[in-house]
Formats: sequence, C-alpha cells, structure tokens
Amino acid sequence: MFILGGTSAKTIATNLAKRLQQPLLQATYKRFPDDEFYVRLHDNIAGQDVVIVQTAYPDPKIVELLLMQDAVHDADAKTITIVLPYFGYSRQDKKFEEGEAISARVIAQHISLHADCVITVDPHKEHILDFFTVPAYSCSAVSTIAQYLKGKNIDFVLAPDEGAKERAKEAASFINCEYDYLEKTRIDGSTVKITPKKLDARGKHVAIIDDIISTGSTMAQSIKELKKQGAASVSVACTHGLYVGGAKEKLLAADCDEIISTDTIETEFSKVSAAECIADLLLKTIPHIRN
Ligand code: R5P
Repeated sequence: MFILGGTSAKTIATNLAKRLQQPLLQATYKRFPDDEFYVRLHDNIAGQDVVIVQTAYPDPKIVELLLMQDAVHDADAKTITIVLPYFGYSRQDKKFEEGEAISARVIAQHISLHADCVITVDPHKEHILDFFTVPAYSCSAVSTIAQYLKGKNIDFVLAPDEGAKERAKEAASFINCEYDYLEKTRIDGSTVKITPKKLDARGKHVAIIDDIISTGSTMAQSIKELKKQGAASVSVACTHGLYVGGAKEKLLAADCDEIISTDTIETEFSKVSAAECIADLLLKTIPHIRN
C-alpha cells in the first residue's frame, strides 16, 4: 500500500503512514502564477494499492484532490482509496429549501469518478456516505479524543445538542463519567441559542464534545451556561476544527479552559490524531476492495 498525502492533510498522512508502516509517495505540488494547481507523481505505482489522503476543505483543496486522483488513476494504480479526513460541504446534505444544490452529493459524485472506496471521519450525518457511487465508510475519532480527555481528569461530558448526545455518551463511557446534553436552537449560520437546563456540573471539570467547531458560537454559548452553573473548568473538543469567523477569540472570551481538535484539519488545536481510526478501517477495507 502506498500513501499519497495532499497539501491539506500532511500531518495526518504522515501519521497514517507511520501507524501502518507504509511508504508515503513523492509528488510535486505547485501553483501556477494564475493560482491553478499542478500535480506530478514521482514513483511507479502501476498495479499498487494507493491511498490518497486529502481534506476536502476549503474549496481549492477539492480541485487538488481531483487532480491527485487523475494522476494516480493514469499511473495505473490497482486500487484507489480516498481518505477524506474532513468531508467539506457535507453539512448541506439535503435540500433545506427548494432550488438549493445538494452540495454533499455533488462533491461525492465527483470524488467517486476515480475511486474504488472512500473513507471519512465523523461525518455530520452518516447518510452522506450514500452519495458516493463507490463503497464509502466512516470511522470515529471519539475514542481518541476521549483518551486525551481522560488524561486531563475530565469528570463530566456534555453534548451541545441532542444530535451530538451519542458522541458524548461514547466519550463518557470511555472516561467512565456522567454525560448530558444541552438544548440548542440555531438562529442563523453564526448565531445559536442555548436554553438553560439544570446540569450536574457544579465543581466538575467538563468537556463539551461535538463533531465540528465552525464559528465557535455553539461552544461559546455552552461554555457560558456551564460556567454560570458552577463548572470548575470547561474544555471544548471536536473532531473537525474549522475555527472560522473569530471562533478562537469567541471561545477565549467565553472563558474556555482548553480547545482540542484532531488533525483532520490542521490547526494549533490539533492535539490528537484521527490516524488511528482511519488506519483500523483501511486495514479492513483494502483487502476487501482488492479482491
Ligand atoms: C451542527 O449541528 C454541528 O454539529 C456543530 O454543532 C456546528 O457545526 C457548530 O457550528 P458553530 O461552531 O458555528 O456553532
């Protein structure tokens, strides 16, 4: 198996190669003066299983991925597995209003063109896997995050909304502590309302866990509620840390004690790697697609 890491997944591809003890392919990536992307592979991969790792976010990284796929396909790889540590556009997973594009479907269909299998991590909704026209699977980084939180003596896990309850439950069971969830109402893309709810958080070291931190509004409102209720400390953890629109400042202003995310998107808060869950899934899927 050979691993080709794209420009949006350097750390996670390296972590994956180390964990699987498989080589990273050499490639030239550059941009022309007009900013168009260029890919050239340097190794002979004819007849080999190739795993392309590239986070499909932000937009230019999707075009980079399509070019990498074309190069690998044209070099006669035996199988092509696409690892999308973060699958951008996956939150627009249906028509919320008439006339809208189903963004997740569009991106999935294009990625499927030169792919035998697709793997992604903690998708916002599992049904987006059905948009790929090749077998697609997901894995979860929650146990890796929970392991980190356990080392920080967290004794209460919270989901910011009911949709994230299962994630909080799984992390709490790993840590062996209590969990609960908050009531969230989204007002618009960057504003949310957290309805106060009595929690057993007084004096506790709380971790709020979600799949994505985007503008940080969900977490900031949740932290404020928790601190009001007497939590000793509040950390926030997610798989995909986008941190857009002043999210970091918002979280710090809300008196957040620690921010934790994985390396599906590389940021200063990437304290744990999603490589472990991806490696486990790859070992199961590659023999299956090869035969
Ligand atoms: C939405 O349901 C997701 O699970 C996250 O809660 C959401 O994307 C977080 O967005 P933001 O950080 O902008 O509040």
